[in-house]
Amino acid sequence: MLKLESVHKVYNKGKSNEFEALKGIDLKVNDGELVAIIGKSGAGKSTLLHILACIDSYESGKYCIDDTLVRNLSEKKLAEIRNKKIGMVMQDFALVDDFSCIENVLLPLDFSRKKISDKKTKAMNALKSVGMDSMAKKSVNKLSGGQKQRVAIARAIVNEPSVVLADEPTGALDSKTSAEIMELFHALNRKGKTVIIVTHDLEIAKQCNRIIEISDGKII
Ligand SMILES: Nc1ncnc2c1ncn2[C@@H]1O[C@H](COP(=O)(O)OP(=O)(O)OP(=O)(O)O)[C@@H](O)[C@H]1O
Ligand SMILES: [Mg+2]
Repeated sequence: MLKLESVHKVYNKGKSNEFEALKGIDLKVNDGELVAIIGKSGAGKSTLLHILACIDSYESGKYCIDDTLVRNLSEKKLAEIRNKKIGMVMQDFALVDDFSCIENVLLPLDFSRKKISDKKTKAMNALKSVGMDSMAKKSVNKLSGGQKQRVAIARAIVNEPSVVLADEPTGALDSKTSAEIMELFHALNRKGKTVIIVTHDLEIAKQCNRIIEISDGKII
């Protein structure tokens, strides 16, 4: 379970360009939910997702993942939580372009003590689950947008996290490819994973069990 209580996020605190991007977010997401976060550009969707993913901090309030309060944790502990619990698909894929698909998917396993052959099996399984195993050795810069998105999803799920977060995963895709990518998220959700998707697209949002709208840093 993910739970936010009165979470505030301030960028550039104490400087002249200080900006409060989240103004007291209360949100509870139960295990196995499929949730959409919508809202206008600049509303704070990515900011919220980054906090949920433990890749950004917040100024006040509380964020708990299951029984762990995510606040003032060491970088080591944060990395451990991210590795075990959370898979993140970033707004612009954030793949390493001149790496192959499998090399990208292996990245989150870099720090694991597993044998390299086991890591490769895991990475291939993740690629298989998104239909990209046949292109494992292909360089990412030779892929289409939809194929890149599939590799980004494979990388997010390679550690078998219980929560998958995706920032505009269909933003740059045509409608047919969007539907295919959404089917991957539905499949992950059917397997019991909590899935949270940020989207501009109301049609995508309607496919989720719950829609949360953010406006000007607040849930409305
Ligand atoms: N690193 C940063 N430093 C300062 N301000 C920031 C930073 N990141 C985001 N902001 C500001 O915080 C607000 C929320 O940004 P955020 O990226 O969360 O919006 P968003 O809802 O994801 O928008 P989009 O739909 O365009 O991706 C915006 O006004 C943005 O300019
Ligand atoms: Mg964004």
